[in-house]
Amino acid sequence: MHSVCVTGAGGFVASWVVKELLAKGYIVHGTVRDPDDEKKNGHLKKLEHANERLHLFKADMLDYAGLCIAIDGCTGVIHVATPVPAGKVTNPQPEMLEPAITGTRNVMNACLKSKVNKVLVVSSMTAIFVNPSWPKDRPMDENCWSDAEFCKKNEKWYCASKVISEREALEFGKKNNLNVVTICPAMVFGPMLQSTICTTNTILLNLFKGKNSFNLGELDKPEEDIPIPIVDVRDCAKALLLAYEKPEAEGSPCGLNEELNYTCEKIMKLGWSHRSLEETLVDSVKNMKEAGLLS
Ligand SMILES: NC(=O)c1ccc[n+]([C@@H]2O[C@H](COP(=O)([O-])OP(=O)(O)OC[C@H]3O[C@@H](n4cnc5c(N)ncnc54)[C@H](OP(=O)(O)O)[C@@H]3O)[C@@H](O)[C@H]2O)c1
Repeated sequence: MHSVCVTGAGGFVASWVVKELLAKGYIVHGTVRDPDDEKKNGHLKKLEHANERLHLFKADMLDYAGLCIAIDGCTGVIHVATPVPAGKVTNPQPEMLEPAITGTRNVMNACLKSKVNKVLVVSSMTAIFVNPSWPKDRPMDENCWSDAEFCKKNEKWYCASKVISEREALEFGKKNNLNVVTICPAMVFGPMLQSTICTTNTILLNLFKGKNSFNLGELDKPEEDIPIPIVDVRDCAKALLLAYEKPEAEGSPCGLNEELNYTCEKIMKLGWSHRSLEETLVDSVKNMKEAGLLS
């Protein structure tokens, strides 16, 4: 089985991707900022088959040389790492835009250098829906892009970082004949493998406690009083694996939630299905109780 590099391996979504890859027999190169940080990354070493097939590499997304070492020898890359805001972004360039955009450029260049066969870039629904000119009655599909200038003007730095890096990744792929596929998950909830709580599960935990903290996900303005699509982290990881493994996956599989105004037809055609929201919520409560976050 070939080797796959997963960037930001210790994060919420990436940890499930690493688990799935190991379960399927892949050799995994995981990039983390500090392989010795047991609080952040210790859970990865306890995953089944981690002893035999998981190799952790130290790399910040701005560390091109470190990324080259991690990606060298890999057939594919699943690029997950990006800063996800956990509060107001005060210094957007270094906090959000640079690690996301320059980080993605670094990953792309390292992939080209190592002659990687396929790169899957995890984008976000935030790269889709901040589009004031999209007709209200038309489902948002892979032709719908957030307006990066509008995002910046309205200080939606995370949304700006996602739409700019996704577009650049696809353009880079076309220009350099590199197979790049992007995927735009809805808001991800569900059980955590890691021991530090991520931003979206903080939002969920606060909801369980009766508090609205959607502002953490830049969804705080009145014009965004919109229904928010949700995907389970385990289904999200499965979708990423499908998009990675299926040769027919191309371009930008949008959505990851067939309800509301988003279409996820492309990923459904690859064979994706998902569990019920009820199951996600029940398992999240159980997971948060076990972690001592909920009583
Ligand atoms: N959660 C959602 O609802 C959702 C929805 C759609 C898309 N996504 C996308 O899914 C991906 C993962 O999100 P998540 O929810 O799993 O968040 P997360 O748990 O915060 O994971 C983000 C990962 O990126 C790493 N990272 C951030 N800045 C970095 C840098 N400069 N250099 C190296 N690594 C860096 C983090 O490492 P540290 O721990 O060291 O900071 C962490 O491992 C992101 O691309 C996000 O945009 C998430």
